[in-house]
Amino acid sequence: MEFGVWTKGLATLGVDCLVLGVFEEAQLGAEGASVDRACGGRLTRLLERGDFTGRPGETLLVTDVSGLAAAHVLLTGLGARKQWQRKSWRKAWLAAAGALARTRITSCAVALDRPAARELDDYYLGRAVAELAGSALYRINDLKTGRKPPPPALKKVLAGPVRRAAAAERGLIHGAAVDGAMTVQRDLANLPGNLCTPTFLAEQARALARRHGGLRVRVLDEAAIRREKMGCLLAVAQGSHQPPRFIVLEYQGRRKEQAPIVLVGKGVTFDSGGISLKDPPGMDEMKFDMSGAAAVIAALTLAAQLRLPLHVVGLVAAVENMPGGKAVKPGDIATSASGQTVEILNTDAEGRLILSDALHYARRFRPAAVIDIATLTGACVVALGHHHSGLMGSDEPLLQELLQAGRRADDRCWQLPLTEEYAEQLKSNFADFANVGGRDGGAITAATFLGKFTQGLKWAHLDIAGTAYQSGAAKGSTGRPTPLLADFLLHRAGR
Ligand code: BES
Ligand code: MN
Ligand code: ZN
Repeated sequence: MEFGVWTKGLATLGVDCLVLGVFEEAQLGAEGASVDRACGGRLTRLLERGDFTGRPGETLLVTDVSGLAAAHVLLTGLGARKQWQRKSWRKAWLAAAGALARTRITSCAVALDRPAARELDDYYLGRAVAELAGSALYRINDLKTGRKPPPPALKKVLAGPVRRAAAAERGLIHGAAVDGAMTVQRDLANLPGNLCTPTFLAEQARALARRHGGLRVRVLDEAAIRREKMGCLLAVAQGSHQPPRFIVLEYQGRRKEQAPIVLVGKGVTFDSGGISLKDPPGMDEMKFDMSGAAAVIAALTLAAQLRLPLHVVGLVAAVENMPGGKAVKPGDIATSASGQTVEILNTDAEGRLILSDALHYARRFRPAAVIDIATLTGACVVALGHHHSGLMGSDEPLLQELLQAGRRADDRCWQLPLTEEYAEQLKSNFADFANVGGRDGGAITAATFLGKFTQGLKWAHLDIAGTAYQSGAAKGSTGRPTPLLADFLLHRAGR
């Protein structure tokens, strides 16, 4: 896709289609009004007849418009003018891009109103134009054998209106990179567990590194993982025929040695629960239990593609959690790489086990910050639903940074408390602690468990169990929290 900025003269702009906003009660926006004059009031007449009201999500394609260089106008609803927010703009453009994707239109200019421009500055306008165009055009990587629908024809999108074209252009470049990273994450996460195994994830990380200069990859196989004494990770892996992998990605965007940002991903390529087997309904969705790993791999490709002046390390613990004859059992005790012992009371609380060894491994990089990303708990979904990822950790400034990155990127997270009282629930009679703390505050006790392995580190934990994928008719990976992570990295890089 080619992106650019238009600065003036919508009526004479050489594109197939102008995308114009309409406020509720059929009010044309400022850009729409100027186009309307150029085409002799065609849009006003259409709106007066009540053919289009401007509700959010509503679109209408108008063809053969005279007086314009563009043959088409696409109207998209912005909702009530008084209630305009960045969200209204995003919804309108997403709906419009979706509508365009179903036509043969190859180029368009976006010209939606921003009554409160402070809410969406020129840079983020560019980001949103490119990122949402990508989302609208994304086709799921399914394995259907029938004839594929033709790919969308849209090849060129011009963003506007803007005051500072350079800022918008930078936003477009970054937005396209965010979309590329989201596609990496979604394609990996959408694959079934029989194809996307730990070995496959490692191969994909290698392949992506070959494609993006500046990315280095090391993969630890089972023997190497054993040498690292990752007893908790191995305990989870031992019930499966699929061998585990520990993937280390490194991007050095700076000549000078710099303490890295370490991203740690949960890569459970299928979570059956193990001996503590899950209920059948919805178990297929546990193929998405490697979404954190996919997000980490995606974030590293973004850093490399944009050549960010940062040092970023990605660690991925990849395993399959299965109830085989050699599987770890409730009551078994594992020794983590940190030397601490864990009584595994529930084999379905496997994410925290593999992450504990990965977080310990992060120490050797003397990181400036460690962020783990995991579909960790159903309890987080109960607490926050599907709109916010859960956020906890040990370093308040880092947590604030992530909260703000999420707000700016429209990929929000919400902080839950992580005070010492919760550690009580992890007490064990037989080991240093148990891997579960009962139902109450389940997202927090899981983070408390991770905290046992991050002492002294600037650490944050993102629980993406409710945000990384969707169920139901639109089942599939959402690509979250890649926009949040991208914004965090871009900000640290001083974008
Ligand atoms: N992968 C699941 C968490 C999960 C649940 C992700 C629902 C997405 C949707 C995790 O490994 C798990 O099974 N957690 C258990 C922990 C419990 C045994 C303490 C859970 O949430 O039920
Ligand atoms: Mn589980
Ligand atoms: Zn899991």
